[in-house]
Amino acid sequence: MDFEQLVALASSPAFIVTGGLILAGILFATVFSSGNRKVLKPTEWQEYPLVKKTQISPNTAIYRFSLPRESDILGLPIGKHISVSATIDGKEISRSYTPISNDEQKGSFDLLIKSYEKGNISRHFTTLKLGDNLRVKGPRGAFDYTPGLTGAFGMIAGGSGITPMYQIINAVLRNASDKTQVRLIYANVNEEDILLRSELDVLADAHPDRFKVFYVLNNPPAGWTGGVGFVSKDQIQTHLPASTHNAKILMCGPPPMLKAMKVHLDELQWPAPRTVSKLDDKVFLF
Ligand SMILES: Cc1cc2nc3c(=O)[nH]c(=O)nc-3n(C[C@H](O)[C@H](O)[C@H](O)COP(=O)(O)OP(=O)(O)OC[C@H]3O[C@@H](n4cnc5c(N)ncnc54)[C@H](O)[C@@H]3O)c2cc1C
Ligand SMILES: *[C@@H]1O[C@H](CO)[C@@H](O)[C@H](O)[C@H]1NC(C)=O
Ligand SMILES: *[C@@H]1O[C@H](CO)[C@@H](O)[C@H](O)[C@H]1NC(C)=O
Repeated sequence: MDFEQLVALASSPAFIVTGGLILAGILFATVFSSGNRKVLKPTEWQEYPLVKKTQISPNTAIYRFSLPRESDILGLPIGKHISVSATIDGKEISRSYTPISNDEQKGSFDLLIKSYEKGNISRHFTTLKLGDNLRVKGPRGAFDYTPGLTGAFGMIAGGSGITPMYQIINAVLRNASDKTQVRLIYANVNEEDILLRSELDVLADAHPDRFKVFYVLNNPPAGWTGGVGFVSKDQIQTHLPASTHNAKILMCGPPPMLKAMKVHLDELQWPAPRTVSKLDDKVFLF
């Protein structure tokens, strides 16, 4: 091609239109990909500062951490969690946490933390002041929710074990075309300990065809209509899908509770969970 042909081509309408489209494409990609920059790295610890703390009970608070840019998102697929680490008494300790904010939240993420007096990492949160950094890595975990994974979820959560369930419940219900049935048994000691109760009740009221929640308390107040004591085999049979259904059981809670639930599930013909759960398991432990 000689120079004249080149000039003719460069000034042809097709060339200008094509060039314009390419430029628009680059502009679009720049604006939208940077708008969705995912900051989590699976193998590298990163630090994010605490920007807000909302105390919701004597031992529980919502902590908001900010991401480097206002347009950043955490980048955590539904069903996955993050690792949080801190150096405590010279020892590096890490624990799992699932944000209660969804992955479309830009510029920050929120953790709901129940702190135990003797807990290592959960107590570390209570020592953070505004501006202090939290060390985070992720995504972690074998669970990865996509619609159609199962026909129904039967969830059993204890205490702060509600957060992985809450993330999945929200993802299912947010999508009007997702027909997955969700049933939750949520166990706590006292009524004040029930986390995200109003959020769960609002979701159950708004989606009665897809989501039901049953609360169980060790120390119920007078007039309590939910379950009483520890989660029983009968309650599982009554409130969760049967093992013969196209269903999965998801569990997260204190180890003694999980141990008791494994016995109930076995008697209800659910397969035994593995030590480390995999996505296609019928019974999945977070
Ligand atoms: C996938 C996943 C997501 C999670 N998400 C969250 C979350 O969003 N928010 C949250 O707060 N936690 C969450 N947890 C629990 C969290 O990982 C820790 O187990 C919890 O914060 C306690 O850790 P710790 O280091 O403070 O206590 P540890 O050092 O592990 O325990 C020390 C002591 O603390 C007390 N303790 C610890 N845990 C409990 C308990 N469950 N019940 C009663 N006493 C206890 C006991 O006295 C124990 O001996 C999640 C767990 C998993 C597996
Ligand atoms: C966490 O805290 C407990 C009690 O406070 C302690 O015995 C334990 O060694 C700590 N570390 C780990 C890894 O659990
Ligand atoms: C919503 O659910 C439908 C049907 O299961 C699925 O095809 C679609 O991808 C889901 N949408 C989102 C945003 O996940």
